[in-house]
Amino acid sequence: EKDILVLAVESSCDETSVAVIKNGTEILSNVVASQIESHKRFGGVVPEVASRHHVESVTLVFEEALKVANVTWDDIDAITVTEGPGLIGSLLIGINAAKALAFAHDIPLVGVHHIAGHIYANQLVEPLEFPLLALVVSGGHTELVYMKDHYQFEVIGETLDDAVGEAYDKVARTLSLPYPGGPHIDRLAAVGEDTYKLPRVWLDKESYDFSFSGLKSAVINTVHNAKQRGEEIVPENLAASFQASVVEVLVEKTMRAAREYNVKQIIVAGGVSANKGLRKGLEEAVAKDGHIKLTVPPLSLCTDNAAMIGAAGTMAYLKGHRSGMDMNGLSGMEL
Ligand code: KG4
Ligand code: ZN
Repeated sequence: EKDILVLAVESSCDETSVAVIKNGTEILSNVVASQIESHKRFGGVVPEVASRHHVESVTLVFEEALKVANVTWDDIDAITVTEGPGLIGSLLIGINAAKALAFAHDIPLVGVHHIAGHIYANQLVEPLEFPLLALVVSGGHTELVYMKDHYQFEVIGETLDDAVGEAYDKVARTLSLPYPGGPHIDRLAAVGEDTYKLPRVWLDKESYDFSFSGLKSAVINTVHNAKQRGEEIVPENLAASFQASVVEVLVEKTMRAAREYNVKQIIVAGGVSANKGLRKGLEEAVAKDGHIKLTVPPLSLCTDNAAMIGAAGTMAYLKGHRSGMDMNGLSGMEL
């Protein structure tokens, strides 16, 4: 059988990335131009700055991805691109580049949901086994997604307020750590102890929804109150206490859903899947359960990249999904 080669584009936030993926599983190239340095001094992503950077890098990133993969346009079966959700100005730069090239080379175009991409990053590690449960944890999302089969997504729980990554970034900011704060909190937590009494927010007993704004506020109040009393905060211990609360709630709800839905595999997706505490918590819970396979992508595939969009896009393409030249960016796209 003929190999399927897909060219993928991701530009929903602050990385411009183009990849070439073979059969939805093998990375031939995955070029990522990150803008993190430019946004650091603002303490977050500035949409207008992000769009300008995408315009500057997109052509070079395309050329590099084709060169590294050692393929020409004739080899490409489909062009897949993140359609949403994300920053509209950023999305449109990737989408317009993808549309122009699909049109010029007469190649089918397939729009992909950013979270489908994060989920399918796992297929670049090992084959997916259905039914499965995906724990999606990123800067914009916290969701439990049940999948009966390929490209069938059912959101069974989501955050009612802050996303996990967002809570991490805000807590990091409170502790005067650089953006993005998640990795810094993770690093401090590894050497700290869970000494601060912070809440675990379970919501309804049956619910798979999450809430992290209360926990975030509790951390901010702890820092504020210490300052007023002239006391020193131990950042390592506060980071460890915050992470302990996050991990306990995420792991507990994930395992409960995995059992209820009788899944074969749990996969983790999104930038926060890089978190060492979360990985360890899930590994321990799955080992104790003994029946469920756990897959977590390597760090390079956890944060935004086009390879994951190519893996998801290949499955969408095989299912017959096609997008027209009227494709628009959808900043609030539903999975
Ligand atoms: O998926 P992603 O790259 O972008 C979005 O689509 O949102 O996720 C970025 C988020 C940021 O909030 C960042 O702080 C967080 O992932 N993150 C982490 C870690 N590495 C990245 N959070 C906790 N621990 C980490 N090791
Ligand atoms: Zn993402």
